[in-house]
Amino acid sequence: MLTVAIAGNDPGSSSQLQAALAQTGLVGSVKQWTLPMDKLPDVGETMPDIVLLDLARDPEPCFTLGAHLRRLKADIRLIACSALVPPNHQLLLDAMRSGVQDFIPKPAKPEALEELLNRLSAEIQPGDRRSAEKLIVLMGSKGGVGTTTVAVNLGVQLASHTQKRTVLLDFARPLGNVHLMLDLHPRFGVRDAVESLDRLDTHFFGGLLSQHKTKLEILGGVLLPEEWQAIPILPIERIVNVAQASFDMVLADLGTQFSSEWSSVLNRARMILMVAEANVPSLWTLERRLVALTGMGVESERIRIVINRWHKGDDEVLKTIEKKLKQPIFATLPNDFSKANTAVNLGTPLMENHNNVLSNRYRALAAQLAGTEYVQPTQKRSGLSNFFATKR
Ligand SMILES: Nc1ncnc2c1ncn2[C@@H]1O[C@H](COP(=O)(O)OP(=O)(O)OP(=O)(O)O)[C@@H](O)[C@H]1O
Ligand SMILES: [Mg+2]
Repeated sequence: MLTVAIAGNDPGSSSQLQAALAQTGLVGSVKQWTLPMDKLPDVGETMPDIVLLDLARDPEPCFTLGAHLRRLKADIRLIACSALVPPNHQLLLDAMRSGVQDFIPKPAKPEALEELLNRLSAEIQPGDRRSAEKLIVLMGSKGGVGTTTVAVNLGVQLASHTQKRTVLLDFARPLGNVHLMLDLHPRFGVRDAVESLDRLDTHFFGGLLSQHKTKLEILGGVLLPEEWQAIPILPIERIVNVAQASFDMVLADLGTQFSSEWSSVLNRARMILMVAEANVPSLWTLERRLVALTGMGVESERIRIVINRWHKGDDEVLKTIEKKLKQPIFATLPNDFSKANTAVNLGTPLMENHNNVLSNRYRALAAQLAGTEYVQPTQKRSGLSNFFATKR
């Protein structure tokens, strides 16, 4: 991940740049330098890879800092952000003298920054991957198979058992109901994030979240069925990038949303957990969805099948489906209507109503996804040989 500093004297413009940087998903830490500085950075200071010089009416303090930084670190990349693009002759000359390599127009668009940072990242850190490795998407093969239940309980176990900083983004359509399962009353949600995109940095994003007592954070879903009509996908990608910059694990409940528009989000996921039940309608749609996902460019290695409401008697049919899909079942979550239903109706995740087989399975799955250790209590194993296969 790239390290960046923003140097300027306009707090509004700096926070816009900060938000655009966070939304690219390519930047690790961002330092702020307010100009004029009492004391210029010295050799002892850790230097960022890239400095964005946020040019004001008088660009001189930016250029003085730029020239100073180049003396300290010859390969530092200086980018001028200017309302005047292309720059006039004098501005260009002054910029070049101080070592500026690129100009981007103000206000900076995340797409323009992304293109520039991608190029610089290839030069500075060849082979470095963006933080996209953190996103786990949950999709239902069809409605009502338990996608949200899985998302919520997995999120709770990731946050509490594996102690990873975890956020669950409720992208279910038409309505999001993650908050109901956690008995939370979000003040803000997806729609607010989309509407405030120009300010959406990690700090602002944090303010939109609601925290459960297990420390799982959620970005509340859409609360009016027609709201998705006004939500384009580009802001959703940006929200995912900012979430990845702030958390160790990012879960997204997509419910049964399915359209090629979402391919950009699906293609940046580390893993897609496809939730299904072991019955004909669910397995039929599962098969078709897997084919459609491949058609969108999602590699089958990143897709995992989770069978919810599993019974012992399902193993035969699951073996057949494994052969047909040429893909192992990644996890099975046993059927426990009474526990699942009580949890849903009370808004309490499964872990809070007893130490039972179902919550142990969630815990094991969370440990596997987080790469932490889990000692499985002695219990009868499923007949499926690849139960909780470790392929990642
Ligand atoms: N392991 C389980 N055993 C028994 N019932 C379960 C289990 N998991 C989920 N359920 C039940 O399945 C029902 C549907 O769950 P949920 O709302 O999570 O599904 P969904 O796929 O998100 O639905 P939608 O398509 O409406 O978003 C709930 O009543 C829930 O209690
Ligand atoms: Mg749901």
